[in-house]
Amino acid sequence: MPPSLVILGGLVFLGCFSVSLSYLNLYMDAAETLRLLGITAELYYVRNGIINNYALTFNLPLPPDIDEIYFTWQRLREQPAMFYRMKFTVLHDRALMLPEANISNEGQVPSTLSVFQVRLPCTGEMSAQVDVIIQMNISIFSASNLTVLNFKRRKTCIKVTDGAYVRDYPFTQGEEDYVEAEDRVDSLTTSTHIFYIAVGCACAIILLIALAVAVYYLNSQKSNDRYTKRMNYYDSSSSQALTAQSQTFLRPDTPNNASGAGLPNFRRGISPVTELKPTDIKSMLSEIAVERKRIALGDLLMEGTFGRIYLGTLIGEDENEVSMEQEVYIKTLTDQARGDQLQVFLTESCMLKGLIHQNINPVVGACVDGEIQPFMIYPYSNEGNLKKFLLKCRMSECGSRYTLSTQQLVYMAIQIIRGIQYLHRKKIIHKDIATRNCVVDNDFVVKLTDNSLSRDVFPSDYTCLGDNENRPVKWLAVEALLERRFSPASDVWAFGVTLWEMMTLGQQPYADIDPFEMAAYLQEGYRIAQPHNCPDELFAVMACCWAMSPDERPKFTQLLVCLQDFYTALGRFI
Ligand SMILES: *[C@@H]1O[C@H](CO)[C@@H](O)[C@H](O)[C@H]1NC(C)=O
Ligand SMILES: *[C@@H]1O[C@H](CO)[C@@H](O)[C@H](O)[C@H]1NC(C)=O
Ligand SMILES: *[C@@H]1O[C@H](CO)[C@@H](O)[C@H](O)[C@H]1NC(C)=O
Repeated sequence: MPPSLVILGGLVFLGCFSVSLSYLNLYMDAAETLRLLGITAELYYVRNGIINNYALTFNLPLPPDIDEIYFTWQRLREQPAMFYRMKFTVLHDRALMLPEANISNEGQVPSTLSVFQVRLPCTGEMSAQVDVIIQMNISIFSASNLTVLNFKRRKTCIKVTDGAYVRDYPFTQGEEDYVEAEDRVDSLTTSTHIFYIAVGCACAIILLIALAVAVYYLNSQKSNDRYTKRMNYYDSSSSQALTAQSQTFLRPDTPNNASGAGLPNFRRGISPVTELKPTDIKSMLSEIAVERKRIALGDLLMEGTFGRIYLGTLIGEDENEVSMEQEVYIKTLTDQARGDQLQVFLTESCMLKGLIHQNINPVVGACVDGEIQPFMIYPYSNEGNLKKFLLKCRMSECGSRYTLSTQQLVYMAIQIIRGIQYLHRKKIIHKDIATRNCVVDNDFVVKLTDNSLSRDVFPSDYTCLGDNENRPVKWLAVEALLERRFSPASDVWAFGVTLWEMMTLGQQPYADIDPFEMAAYLQEGYRIAQPHNCPDELFAVMACCWAMSPDERPKFTQLLVCLQDFYTALGRFI
């Protein structure tokens, strides 16, 4: 038995037993899970009649290049006959045509092992994420003896222009599509964590880790030094052990973009030093232009010396249509802002424009008409800024609805990784990954956003080291700090600090260190200390992110596997 099945097998007991399906297997085979999820293990929806509800709850994302999916099934006994009826529901039929299967809509479940295909053809008319439900009713003898299975898929469709995909900014959002984007944000809040339980872990090592976690939790009262302490990864045997241990559950490398210097491919990133030209910005802004009369400002949420972030309402274009009001965030400048601050604000706000991913929160509307200060519009998330959310959780620890478990924190971290991975696939280096640049929903869905106004609203997170540039010094990798070299590996470093912020519920990293001393301090091998209540495994993950050499740091694919395994382990033993 392949090791992965140990886990899936274990989960099966959580599923419900269904009489009418007793002799059915229905699953995605290993080639299919590898293609869709990067995991080589069969994913059973029904195994010997037992339904894996965890797998069914998961809304599996399908990227633009995947148009066909495959299911494998078999009735395990000749008698009695087993019937199925299949139906597709598409929640957005302008973007996606009705799916087609290469089996008929109703018939008998085959008694030989068979594969069927479902095609999900995009119309090419618009870009959107479309939820699709494949409903399969399976019965024996009579209609009253019925089991309903709903397979959920979320297909990303891309608008086709002149027969070709628009590659660079694939999601050219006109105002019309903008509304779509808003709808989509609402529909994207479905949590995916349940699925990690089912397939996130594909190796037997997890069992060992899980045991280790259990042990750590039993004696986790051990207090840690609150202050920063010296960690030398290469000499000290104990930290070497940590690193080695974490390496054992890292996946083999996928060859990708994560090495140090240069990286000419990575064109743009979020920092005042940006290659976006003012003309690019102008055309981007006009693509998402919103009239001033459609914007209503609400509560002031955050304020700096020249920037403000409001809650607001975006009113539908057509005044006769009710129900078209949406809550949004609005970033704007005060009259104190100078021309160069305006330019930086517009540039930084545009960095994620047009990107569609459930863990990215891009600007979706802009009102820039010269007379008044610009308004940049962002999709709303119930709980708002992640850093403020964490601080709020710290303040009201006892018994409030904001008591966060380690598992929830890890779940949020996993989503940040997914957002970053998406950016890296789009050849974008974020350069300012931190909790202040994330927003969170009440079901712990986290979205990474751009850093416009962060310098102003979180002034203590940025320092100007005498070079006229305000930088997030304590989140910067050594090479980014010293030589301004940014790469996926410098994003890995910043992610490590972000994870630390999460585990400490929003503490300042390196609080006692003078920003001017940071470079020397890091070069001597000092790093932030393990937070209280932070499991050793998790700290090992962070610590790997802060390896001196960019090549030594883990890749995001590895971090994802580590955290998913850890998440699963927490779910099973705590
Ligand atoms: C499956 O059964 C449910 C409940 O009986 C019914 O509402 C639904 O339309 C059926 N679906 C198919 C594909 O027959
Ligand atoms: C459907 O497609 C799959 C994969 O292409 C193939 O293996 C299978 O035989 C097809 N089934 C039918 C009924 O044509
Ligand atoms: C479902 O079918 C089985 C035949 O295996 C039968 O024993 C059972 O009574 C049926 N249940 C219902 C609710 O019809």
